[in-house]
Amino acid sequence: MTRALELAASPGVPLGPNPRVGCVLLAPDGTTVAEGFHRGAGSPHAEADALARAGDRARGATAVVTLEPCNHTGRTGPCAQALVAAGVARVVFAQSDSNPVATGGAGTLRAAGVDVEAGLLADAARAVNRVWTFAVEHGRPFVTWKLATTLDGRSAAADGTSRWVSSPPARRDTHRLRGLCDTILVGTGTVLVDDPQLTVRDEDDRPLPRDRQPLRAVMGVRDVPPTRRVLDDAAETVLLRTRDPHEALAALRARDRQHVFLEGGPTLAAAFLAAGLVDEVVCYVAPMLLGAGLSAVGDLGAATLTDALHLDVVEVTTLGAGADTNVRLTLTPLKETV
Ligand SMILES: NC(=O)c1ccc[n+]([C@@H]2O[C@H](COP(=O)([O-])OP(=O)(O)OC[C@H]3O[C@@H](n4cnc5c(N)ncnc54)[C@H](OP(=O)(O)O)[C@@H]3O)[C@@H](O)[C@H]2O)c1
Repeated sequence: MTRALELAASPGVPLGPNPRVGCVLLAPDGTTVAEGFHRGAGSPHAEADALARAGDRARGATAVVTLEPCNHTGRTGPCAQALVAAGVARVVFAQSDSNPVATGGAGTLRAAGVDVEAGLLADAARAVNRVWTFAVEHGRPFVTWKLATTLDGRSAAADGTSRWVSSPPARRDTHRLRGLCDTILVGTGTVLVDDPQLTVRDEDDRPLPRDRQPLRAVMGVRDVPPTRRVLDDAAETVLLRTRDPHEALAALRARDRQHVFLEGGPTLAAAFLAAGLVDEVVCYVAPMLLGAGLSAVGDLGAATLTDALHLDVVEVTTLGAGADTNVRLTLTPLKETV
């Protein structure tokens, strides 16, 4: 299973919407017959990949898979039936597939007389597909709220300027994190004030090709003028004409989105926090004081200290050096206090 997990995490597999899966076929004497992994939506599943390599040698083998074999016909056939047809005698899988359209593979295998064992290294398998697992189990995308603030918690100066709160190394880091998400979400306020393009640029400041850009999503009821950069053709854009965070996430989920990078201003951040819909916070702190200006987050209704929303610090990293130094904090909200 450790080898199957390594295969699942093979480099070069495109982000979502499918989970990363690895498979090893073992002969009755324990030697490896074939290995396989899933290379992204539309390509063969890990089991099919391994079965194709094994050919007749799959008969009587044990299939070790990081995710419960699927039970449905999507763009490729159901893996549970493929394993049965190939004569596999035993299947050991790590994580159960709770995806409603794919679940039930273990039952199909057992009904066909295949010996099935579930749960081996399940936590490690869930970690390989952290965001996919979250989206399947919660029925909505995972939300990372990213913000850049001064030391006194301002995300924009009194005149509205905010573009260069964070330093160039922090901005490059933001592009890296954007590239790990499939959606960048802001409110109409940010689009109207800052006119950001909301694309991912590489280390050399070149935009990634359009087909590798996350979806850009703008939330709010006001019109977005067609000249705004977020509507250019560098990436796809969706206008979510709602102020309801639940509705916005449902619309994004309907587009198979799993990981939202929330980069809106204080208004949108407060709305998502108040709704308990922030799962992770990435905060770049610049060693800079403004003394006035826009607070990093809008009113959360905390009238007294005991009402404060508490977060767990997961990681602290210093980015850049000298005048470019910023501190990146990664945090998770404590759900029970939201
Ligand atoms: N430093 C940073 O990290 C950072 C990041 C982003 C923005 N900013 C700064 O933030 C400022 C913009 O702030 P902002 O708060 O206006 O931006 P925002 O949160 O991106 O947009 C706010 C707008 O979104 C709409 N909206 C969507 N859902 C809403 C809800 N649940 N409740 C209320 N409104 C909702 C409303 O417009 P409708 O009337 O259209 O519905 C609202 O005016 C700019 O100065 C920008 O530079 C800073």
